[in-house]
Amino acid sequence: MPVLTRLAISGLRNIAEANLEPEAGFNLFFGNNGSGKTSLLEALYLLGMGRSFRSHLQKPLISHEMPAATVFGETLDGITIGIQRPQRGLQSIKIAGKPAEGIAELSRTLPVQLINSDTFQLMEGSPSDRRHFLDWGVFHVEHQYLEYWRRAKKALEQRNLLLRAEASANEIEPWSHELALNAGHMDEYRRSYIDQLAVQFAETVSTLELPASLAVSFNYSRGWDSHTDLFVQLQESLSKDRKYGHTTAGPHKADLQFKVGGLDAAEVLSRGQLKLLICALKVVQSQHLINQRGIRCLFLLDDLPAELDVSNREMVCKLLGSLKTQVFMTSIELEALAPVAIRQAEANSMKTKMFHVKHGIICSI
Ligand SMILES: Nc1ncnc2c1ncn2[C@@H]1O[C@H](COP(=O)(O)OP(=O)(O)OP(=O)(O)O)[C@@H](O)[C@H]1O
Ligand SMILES: [Mg+2]
Repeated sequence: MPVLTRLAISGLRNIAEANLEPEAGFNLFFGNNGSGKTSLLEALYLLGMGRSFRSHLQKPLISHEMPAATVFGETLDGITIGIQRPQRGLQSIKIAGKPAEGIAELSRTLPVQLINSDTFQLMEGSPSDRRHFLDWGVFHVEHQYLEYWRRAKKALEQRNLLLRAEASANEIEPWSHELALNAGHMDEYRRSYIDQLAVQFAETVSTLELPASLAVSFNYSRGWDSHTDLFVQLQESLSKDRKYGHTTAGPHKADLQFKVGGLDAAEVLSRGQLKLLICALKVVQSQHLINQRGIRCLFLLDDLPAELDVSNREMVCKLLGSLKTQVFMTSIELEALAPVAIRQAEANSMKTKMFHVKHGIICSI
């Protein structure tokens, strides 16, 4: 069960050096604008995902005039994870002292769930944001899924290359076949996952007494015609795909829409309700992972009080408390978060630790 007992950060944005011993329960970070709260969450996210949630570039994360950004963590089970991102050269990732095989190994070692202002993309963004949510869940629960996903991705890339190179139908066909084969498996996994998630969501709604306005239904579309085999559809759409220069149907076109009363959740709900719903979805996804695999993920919540009134802050803390997982939350003001978080942590027999962040220095309070 990944619980971080030690965290060391150096050279990451304005955090020159930080050494923390987080609590297994709620960890709350307070500080003014620009003090380093999001940077701390960025360090934790880097540790679990091997990348930043703020920039795809290597350098912005590294403190100005520092040779590298380094994050080191140790879990309750004694597993160490170290990531170093130098100004020049490649990022290195070590798990238990050995180079990690890849991001997949890292994210299985330390699964993280992030909730920040970008999380609204789950409702308001493109289907790719929702596929990401879906694939995250299936990847962690079904270990064979990654292989099908990788093969489908490769087949799709090859098919697209050949389409653009005006290759013959015979040359394209094997890749259409390979894509259809793996897409079929992906669809089965995705569909079954959504069905299970819907059951889990209904359970959470009833046990945690979530507002009726959040009674959401899931609408999954697989990315190709529901009555046609993908291989057949790919053969039929060959000339169209040649014209567009890419494959127009397949698992890369799947979507998962969230509906409230039959309408898109993003069209109906207020910002606060949307945020609460997104938190609930992520909690439900994590509860499902606990039920299926016994794996708890770290929760990172940036500026939790933003957009939420006091009762909804309490609801989010209640949801998080129900998971009994390690949580890292930030807020500008202590009063906006500490009372509700402490109350909900205590209700779930969890401890709370508070930290003050100032000019990149993080102190326990
Ligand atoms: N590469 C870098 N090197 C040094 N400092 C940086 C770097 N990148 C960003 N900073 C600075 O780090 C500081 C911390 O930013 P951060 O986003 O973590 O603050 P925050 O506490 O989350 O603030 P807010 O409450 O406004 O969200 C900012 O002052 C920012 O200008
Ligand atoms: Mg911030």
